[in-house]
Amino acid sequence: MLKSIAVMTSGGDSPGMNACARAVVRTALYEGVDVWGIRSGYHGLLEEDMFKMERKDVSDIIQRGGTFLGTARCKRWKTPEGRRLGYENLKKRGIEGLVVIGGDGSLRGASLLSKETGMPIVGLPGTIDNDVWGMDYTIGCDTAANTIVDAINKLRDTASAHRRVIVLEVMGRQCGWLALVSGISGGAEYILIPEEEYDLDEICKDMAEAYKKGKRYILMVVAEGAGSGTEIGKYVAEKTKLDTRVSVLGHIQRGGSPSVIDRVRASQLGEKAALAIISGMSDIVFGFAKGHVVAIDLHDAVNNKKKIDPDYMHLAKVLF
Ligand code: F6P
Repeated sequence: MLKSIAVMTSGGDSPGMNACARAVVRTALYEGVDVWGIRSGYHGLLEEDMFKMERKDVSDIIQRGGTFLGTARCKRWKTPEGRRLGYENLKKRGIEGLVVIGGDGSLRGASLLSKETGMPIVGLPGTIDNDVWGMDYTIGCDTAANTIVDAINKLRDTASAHRRVIVLEVMGRQCGWLALVSGISGGAEYILIPEEEYDLDEICKDMAEAYKKGKRYILMVVAEGAGSGTEIGKYVAEKTKLDTRVSVLGHIQRGGSPSVIDRVRASQLGEKAALAIISGMSDIVFGFAKGHVVAIDLHDAVNNKKKIDPDYMHLAKVLF
């Protein structure tokens, strides 16, 4: 049994990170274990920006987006010297295990720390991108997808009023999950994702023909990793001569109060992680797959690339 653990959020924030950290803290305290909060992710660990937490430190946060612990992308953590210093900063406070809530890059940093120092680590997937291998859900992806669908609904109103083509760029540098599920849910005509090649000339031809047959408007959702929405919009306008507008949703899709799904799942995962690390487990990431909690090997999770679900791809084609 470990007697003292720490928790941090790292990388891009995601709605539900607070609910997750809260569950880690309250589970640890319930089990009689000391729990430290590290501010600003790995950066805070290097700067020794950490504090011993009490129940009240996680009051009034389950409903908030962002992360009350703060987060950062930390270049120094990419070096072995940085990670060694982080390890020493944990050790000198008697911290015996670390829970890292973050995306792909943050979990990669955790995997290296564990390999190099033997520090027990449990990871939790906190990212709107839903791009962690071995699971089909990451904390925050549901809220973000709902935010995008809300934007699509609004864009649809104005697109139909003006008979316009609207190109909406959403987040997802490596992974098209957000674009795909929000495009399906919002009834978009075209969804461009980094995992799938597309022929923009073909699409433009299609669009022009559809308009000739009486189509009133078209919505296209583009994952940022599939190309710049602005450039694609410009190309479409030139090729089709259709009235085209572009919206780049940006960081709006990362914020906001977490959905019920994100709150409940984040809480479940937080509890699991705290219990696991306290009991001496290490090098795992908890996530959800097919509606159930799964424990994935941390190194497998970061060394494999998640593939897009072919069922979603097929559905998007059928419903187009
Ligand atoms: O990793 C999450 C994510 O939201 C990506 O989808 C996006 O490309 C990136 O973060 C944006 O990062 P930043 O907030 O550092 O600009």
